[in-house]
Amino acid sequence: MKEYIQNLLTDIVSGLKNEKLLPENTQIRIMVENTKDKAHGDYASNIAMMLARPMQKKPQEIALLLTSRIPLNDRISRVEIAGPGFINFFASKEFLENQVNSLLKDPLLGVKPARTPETVVIDYSSPNVAKEMAVHHIRSTVIGDAVARILEFLGNRVIRANHIGDWGTQFGMLIACLEKKEQEHASSLELADLEAFYREAKKHYDEDPEFAEKARGYVVKLQSGDEYCRSMWQKLVKITMDQNQDIYRRLNISLSEKDVMGESLYNPMLKPLVDDLINRGLAREDQGAIVVYLNTFKDKEGNPRGVIVRKSDGGYLYTTTDIACAKYRWEHFGAKRIIVFADSRQHEHLLMAWDIARMAGYLPDDVLTEHGSFGMMLGKDGKPFKTRTGGTVKLKELLDEAENRARELMSDRNDGLSPEEKNSVVHAVAMGAVKYADLSKNRTTDYIFDWDNMLTFDGNTAPYLQYAYSRIRSIFRKTSAVPGAIKITAPEEENLLLKFIKFSEVVNGAAEKAMPHLLCAYLYELAGLFMKFYESCPVLKSDVPEDVRQSRLAIAECAARILKTGLGLLGIETLERM
Ligand code: ARG
Repeated sequence: MKEYIQNLLTDIVSGLKNEKLLPENTQIRIMVENTKDKAHGDYASNIAMMLARPMQKKPQEIALLLTSRIPLNDRISRVEIAGPGFINFFASKEFLENQVNSLLKDPLLGVKPARTPETVVIDYSSPNVAKEMAVHHIRSTVIGDAVARILEFLGNRVIRANHIGDWGTQFGMLIACLEKKEQEHASSLELADLEAFYREAKKHYDEDPEFAEKARGYVVKLQSGDEYCRSMWQKLVKITMDQNQDIYRRLNISLSEKDVMGESLYNPMLKPLVDDLINRGLAREDQGAIVVYLNTFKDKEGNPRGVIVRKSDGGYLYTTTDIACAKYRWEHFGAKRIIVFADSRQHEHLLMAWDIARMAGYLPDDVLTEHGSFGMMLGKDGKPFKTRTGGTVKLKELLDEAENRARELMSDRNDGLSPEEKNSVVHAVAMGAVKYADLSKNRTTDYIFDWDNMLTFDGNTAPYLQYAYSRIRSIFRKTSAVPGAIKITAPEEENLLLKFIKFSEVVNGAAEKAMPHLLCAYLYELAGLFMKFYESCPVLKSDVPEDVRQSRLAIAECAARILKTGLGLLGIETLERM
């Protein structure tokens, strides 16, 4: 509909040019917006204001001229001029009915797939080996996964890349520590506490010179491909990733073992890459280190900023890896868009790595690189999220707590569910709540993690949407009537239909901006409109005429399907009963 109006206005504007009412060279962007409430129509445009200067007329006058040329047809039932010259469009009821009737027959629910499907690499989750996944990894994991699902739904080829931190000099001490633990016959449970393991390795390294010596030797051996060190290293990666994979399973994250493309993958590419930069004069030596100077970043004196790609001891850096990584994603996968979900502190780092990759011709100009930046997760006190005693919160414990709280939330519901059903409800509500709390905020800002705001049936929460869904499904269990053709009989129905046909635009917008909160806001509004509809438009009451009942059942079905699909795109489960 929006596009239709846009095209209509484009035609009218070129007509004005032909008639010399508007200078031929006028450039304007024709904007059509969704309105907030029906009083302003269903769509509105400020085009008359935009034309005021080039046409040297009052906006209202122009609006009058434009509206006289807008055909009222089976799509647009009415146009109005409002305020300083806004043009408000009202969609016709027949149009809405037809659109939604055919939307119900479409497995994509009217969502238009990407015009040209693209290969998109999404770098997300990316925890570090021998470290517990921390709360900032939950943001990357949850947001990245939703964006991966959304882009895939639109027909793109999505490559999930779990860029784990599985390389670096710390592996010497970690291997030495693992060896020690194995000699002491440590249980697998003991090894599973990664935070403690890392701390222990560090302690030995700092306090025991013999251990440190051995650790340094192992670094060298690991890097030269020594079999023993490699197998020890692999054990560490496996212990960590098995735990993370459990978390992914619990949170319904679509990452699998085969998506792991950690830093170690790029390690063999680093030497040739830096040699190439040197040979082509793009990098040069400075006090033993190899440095690339970037014109796109300036230092304090306004000179090109130097980025070290090889340290004077021969070691490579996080940035070097990300340059190789960008190159690989283009060469190996043919990526047209690369999105890295990492917290905002990594912004400069990523931009510099990509600038170097482009400057060196490793990444063509038409490949989009985006930092899916996000803010920090804060506690209720506005400080970085910590446990009561000030320690870092372990993700596993956080999810356990979510389940306990969800069980409490659901405990006073007498719904005749079996204990197994109840468990799956608790699980879905808990995981949904944690994920949705994160997804529903604009990711670029910090966000306050607050149990009371996420585990409630009031407001923009997962439990509210899950409940709305299961409430609709319960209607269908109470009747043998089936959905039929939609016919609008009340304004509440019309509002809901208008919302349905915007699903496509919202999914595409969320994909383009890599921002799932746009979809969350839409689903929340849709659920609200459904509740209003359900309050004022009876479905099952005996005095409702059969064709109206069938129409309302179709409306209910459409709401349920969009909620289920939309929540599914966010990686959140829906329940038939709860
Ligand atoms: N492992 C990093 C961290 O824990 C995130 C990696 C992000 N991706 C990248 N290509 N640099 O912060």
